[in-house]
Amino acid sequence: MSSRPTIQAPSDPGRLPMTLPLLMEKKRLGEPIVMVTAYDYPSARAAEAAGVDLVLVGDSAATTVLGYNATTPVELDDMLVLARAARRGLRTPLLIGDLPFGSYEVSNEQAITTAMRMVKEAGCDVVKLEGGGEASVKRARAIVGAGIPVMGHVGLTPQTSTALGGWKAQGRTAVAAEALALQEAGCFALVFEAIPSAVTEELMALLEIPVIGIGAGPATDGQVLVFHDLLGIRDGLGARFVKRYANLQQDMNDGVSAYAEDVRARRYPGPEHSYSIDPAELAELHELLS
Ligand code: KIV
Repeated sequence: MSSRPTIQAPSDPGRLPMTLPLLMEKKRLGEPIVMVTAYDYPSARAAEAAGVDLVLVGDSAATTVLGYNATTPVELDDMLVLARAARRGLRTPLLIGDLPFGSYEVSNEQAITTAMRMVKEAGCDVVKLEGGGEASVKRARAIVGAGIPVMGHVGLTPQTSTALGGWKAQGRTAVAAEALALQEAGCFALVFEAIPSAVTEELMALLEIPVIGIGAGPATDGQVLVFHDLLGIRDGLGARFVKRYANLQQDMNDGVSAYAEDVRARRYPGPEHSYSIDPAELAELHELLS
């Protein structure tokens, strides 16, 4: 355990809202940056209570809360609803709105309009977009130029996983060029997804902005996990890099089953869940109804 003082203790009720300078300071001090996804008020409250630094309303919402089997179908309007709910549950973490597939690739104008909707209509502080190819770098530069900070995302980018050859660890030299291009375009931070740890280590030496890893090993400045993966609100174990801290899907199944059994067995509601009435008033009602 590190004895180094933290610049923002998670339990401090006077915690200041996370800012981009504070994030850079954390990187400079070598203080791990904590990021998690959230898609509604309760998940945002959990992130706030844990004192995390960054909350991402990820397009992983498509699979975690909307029931799709890929991230591509989620619409910008869906993301806005989810981000607004998360916003209401947050005070201190920086809120990142993920730009969904099809909402930024067509032109710089489309990308800026979408990013502005995330900020104006949902209260996001910054946005994230996937990919480090020429088009993504141009869009990142355009959004930054419009005054909205951008987080990049390289390695495994689920929106284009078909083109990448599926869901597998990315170790390509292209990742290095993409990360550097996004940094040069003005991104304030990057997500590294499913990149071999040794590759991450090499790349960290080249980057000045904070890097948050998911399946990219321990060398990054911080880590991100999907809320539903880390809490076990899903069937199956998920990707190799997921560490599970709870088994809430099982708890939810058990809770709803216990309720259903109680109703069927007439154990619920009990007297403690029911309202009473003064006997005189009841007699009056009885008179009225007879
Ligand atoms: O959408 C998402 O949840 C993400 C994280 C995996 C970084 O992009």
